[in-house]
Amino acid sequence: MIIDTHAHYDDEQFDADRESLLAEMKAGGIGLIINAGSTIASWDKIIKLTEEYPFMYGAVGVHPDEAGTLDEEQFGRMEELLMREKIVAVGEIGLDYYWDKESHDLQKKWFIRQLGLARRKNMPVIIHSREAAADTFQIMKQHAQGMKAVIHCYSYSAEMAAEYVKMGYYIGVGGVVTFKNAKKLKQVVKEIPLENIVLETDCPYLAPVPFRGKRNSSLYLPYVAEEIAAIKGVTVEKVIQQTEENSRKLYNL
Ligand code: NI
Repeated sequence: MIIDTHAHYDDEQFDADRESLLAEMKAGGIGLIINAGSTIASWDKIIKLTEEYPFMYGAVGVHPDEAGTLDEEQFGRMEELLMREKIVAVGEIGLDYYWDKESHDLQKKWFIRQLGLARRKNMPVIIHSREAAADTFQIMKQHAQGMKAVIHCYSYSAEMAAEYVKMGYYIGVGGVVTFKNAKKLKQVVKEIPLENIVLETDCPYLAPVPFRGKRNSSLYLPYVAEEIAAIKGVTVEKVIQQTEENSRKLYNL
């Protein structure tokens, strides 16, 4: 089965047809979906989704763009939510110097605090990192050694990916890999072992070709699997089987 390791079905872009869309997943070959947390407001919606759909799991965390909304009270609430059976990871957390919505110090502070919480709870982490390669790597080295992690929507060099693979982390690959101009990511996929790759959509964003620019959904993941198979010279079935195994290891499913 295909596992979508990173989706946002709590997003309002799915409000009009969420139910009918999610009803199509099984027939589309999508076996499990992990809905990642972004804002504090997303947490309750994610809990609800995990309760309504047997194939839906969740993560709670605060995205670096939202770091300014975190405080001790919300952090305590997050810790409580992590005890739920279908909440399987802390995320997405990290650094975003592209949008740069919060100061780097504040982003780093809550990134490190959330990593610490995941370690205490013995849970994997979903890492968001954009234009912040060096700082993310340094914080992961210092605070996440020995932890399970996925570097989601990976956008850095093959050399850095190799370093993350050495640390035992997974690299999240989504629709971007199908873009003609995504030379760097295609190179990453070529060089790192298939055993370290997981499939993800980040939907509603980043739909693969031929749906680029449209709303994304897990149903498009076969296009991502096909591209990875072509790059690595293996069958699509092999990509689906291996990434399923990887995703289960990552999230303890
Ligand atoms: Ni995301």
